[in-house]
Amino acid sequence: MSGLRFLVFLGSARDGRQGERVARCVVNSLKEKNHEAEMIDPLTLGGDGHVHQPLHFRRDPSDIPEWMTNTNKKIEKANAMIIVTPEYNCSLPPALTGTMDQFPPASYRHKPCGIVCYSMGPFGGIRAAAIVRPFLSELGMISTPKVCIIPQVQGKFSEVGQCLDDRTGENLKKVVDEVEWYASALTTKANTDGVPA
Ligand SMILES: Cc1cc2nc3c(=O)[nH]c(=O)nc-3n(C[C@H](O)[C@H](O)[C@H](O)COP(=O)(O)O)c2cc1C
Repeated sequence: MSGLRFLVFLGSARDGRQGERVARCVVNSLKEKNHEAEMIDPLTLGGDGHVHQPLHFRRDPSDIPEWMTNTNKKIEKANAMIIVTPEYNCSLPPALTGTMDQFPPASYRHKPCGIVCYSMGPFGGIRAAAIVRPFLSELGMISTPKVCIIPQVQGKFSEVGQCLDDRTGENLKKVVDEVEWYASALTTKANTDGVPA
């Protein structure tokens, strides 16, 4: 199935971040498969990166900034997500949780989500990959089984998101293909039978 809508959440706002290259690569791979794909970048999202009040806690509609409403619509419309996250101090980076926490679990619910993690060290951010599963589950998403773990991420991607390492490229493709499969299956099911309340 082509023509699905994907969002790629980037979990770094750091100066000189490696993650932008990885996320660009994922977006490019999805577009090459004729899907719509957009990066949700904590640097350009809007707001100041802190969760002052999540959208679903705001009682006064005039208190909801435009960037929140617009991004929430994108999340609602998306068929699937892919998380691209580093590991910060054995945990998830605040740029990831601080972005995703802004929006209601109802907007993410019943959607598949692929996991791509990376680090500059030898373990590829694998602890972040383990920790992100319950987080995605709490948001109502189905995290897909394959994970792309990228150790020594520096030098593996060009600035425009070209993957320079064959093995990493193969592993990324496996995640993209699998999320695409789940997105296609779940979208078909949701279109015919709706989703559970
Ligand atoms: C605050 C901070 C904490 C980090 N903690 C870890 C860690 O626990 N494990 C690890 O493998 N790398 C860790 N690193 C190194 C990151 O793997 C490396 O900086 C990576 O490039 C971060 O992703 P980014 O460049 O997209 O921000 C940490 C880096 C930062 C900035």
